[in-house]
Amino acid sequence: MTETTHVTTPFTATSTAAEVVDGIDLTGRRVIVTGGASGIGVETARALAGAGAEVTLAVRDLGAGERTADDIIATTGNKQVLVAPLDLADQASVASFTAAWDGPLHILVNNAGVMASPETRTPEGWELQFATNHLGHFALATGLHRALAAAGGARVVSVSSSAHLSSPVVFEDIHFRERAYEPWAAYGQSKTANVLFGVEATRRWASDGITVNALMPGGIRTNLQRHISQEELDRAIAAAGGTGITWKTPEQGAATSVLVATSPLLEGIGGRYFEDCNEAGRNQPGSRSGVAAYALDPEAAARLWQVSIETLAP
Ligand SMILES: NC(=O)c1ccc[n+]([C@@H]2O[C@H](COP(=O)([O-])OP(=O)(O)OC[C@H]3O[C@@H](n4cnc5c(N)ncnc54)[C@H](OP(=O)(O)O)[C@@H]3O)[C@@H](O)[C@H]2O)c1
Repeated sequence: MTETTHVTTPFTATSTAAEVVDGIDLTGRRVIVTGGASGIGVETARALAGAGAEVTLAVRDLGAGERTADDIIATTGNKQVLVAPLDLADQASVASFTAAWDGPLHILVNNAGVMASPETRTPEGWELQFATNHLGHFALATGLHRALAAAGGARVVSVSSSAHLSSPVVFEDIHFRERAYEPWAAYGQSKTANVLFGVEATRRWASDGITVNALMPGGIRTNLQRHISQEELDRAIAAAGGTGITWKTPEQGAATSVLVATSPLLEGIGGRYFEDCNEAGRNQPGSRSGVAAYALDPEAAARLWQVSIETLAP
């Protein structure tokens, strides 16, 4: 497959996570799913465990993690479902998690996220959505780089969103210190960062056998919408030019993550953006699908990497 060949698969928007992983044996593979105790993270973890992988749910609510693990063990019969504490907004927590990880890591699903939260800052003064959705996952993945390289052919899955179309990374004021805080702009910026991370991580890590792709899971009713009312959601959809959302089930919402994590059709492919189980084309004006050119820009990706390293430096 050449660099420019688009990845197309037999799967669609209605395919489920179980369907895309059907026939793929993940026995002996080790997986981490961040935010694996709710929403599409649960179904991502369930499908990967169902295919035989050892799955660690990296969560900040350990009780919810244990209940989810019990449920996944009961439904898949795979007892290798583990729970570990991880708060992506707390760099000490990320550092403890990566320090405790032992041995190879075959699949890292950077799934956790917070959306359209009221203006909130970490103790460092970082805007919460950027800190959680991007910086936390950046620190996690770079902290696990050796484990990913040790796997030989590891994949990192960066769960982004069509909301990335709302904002590039605004390097001049990432943390809304100069401009007024706007929850959707902050979410969009963080989700663009998730795509750019895949571009630069693949450039840096492909020689270690590690590829990183980003994706839009679809619209799924989950806890993600906790910070917004129905009216706000309707307004946001209308403002974005949409007429409505065709909601997916969590099992359908997890399908693109599981495809990107496991499909043989993505062997050696990285730095791309997927939706509805296929590689997306470029976004067209007036549309809410496809990927923005700024999200795949290699210069912005390299700049974001550098900024992230500098931001996280002790
Ligand atoms: N649902 C959609 O329509 C949709 C659309 C586009 C993209 N996405 C993306 O899909 C991903 C999963 O979202 P979802 O819909 O499944 O929502 P969800 O049910 O709210 O799941 C998000 C998960 O992230 C976790 N999380 C939030 N902040 C965290 C932190 N600081 N440290 C560790 N974990 C943290 C949450 O943990 P707690 O339970 O402890 O809060 C939760 O488990 C997100 O990245 C989201 O941006 C979703």
